[in-house]
Amino acid sequence: MLISPALAKAFNEQIGHEIGASLQYVAIAAHFSQHHLTLLSKLFMDQADEERQHSQKFIKYLLDTKGGLRIPAIAAPKPTFKSAEEAVEAALKWEKEVTRQITALMDMAVKESDYLAQSFLQWFIDEQLEEVVKVDRLLSVIKQSGEKNLLMVEAYLVHIEKAG
Ligand code: FEO
Repeated sequence: MLISPALAKAFNEQIGHEIGASLQYVAIAAHFSQHHLTLLSKLFMDQADEERQHSQKFIKYLLDTKGGLRIPAIAAPKPTFKSAEEAVEAALKWEKEVTRQITALMDMAVKESDYLAQSFLQWFIDEQLEEVVKVDRLLSVIKQSGEKNLLMVEAYLVHIEKAG
């Protein structure tokens, strides 16, 4: 076994968080889809896929290190939102929470001198910065546009996609 039982337990819990995030982003994508905001919906559906991939990385790591896979019960996502701002605020709060969770996992790996786990987790640390910045920027654009001008946010998304 290349992972301690304590870290394996924490990784299993993180699998639940990542799958939970994936479901939450599907619910946010559905909110935008119902309002015919296709690009915002696609952005969160893509994010849901990314979260599923994050869970798969942890699953593969636990299998490779023979830590044992015990996927926990997944909390139901918040099903509806009153506004775009509320939906994206929930996403930002979530990404900040995941950043805290990943940092706690890294703290454990450092305390255990588990260099393999530290190397694995470094990818997630970098990814979290990217995700927090992305959602924070989107929230700021939505706040500036206001609920009535969300089509302008869609135009902005086309613009940054072309620029990127
Ligand atoms: Fe898997 Fe968006 O953090």
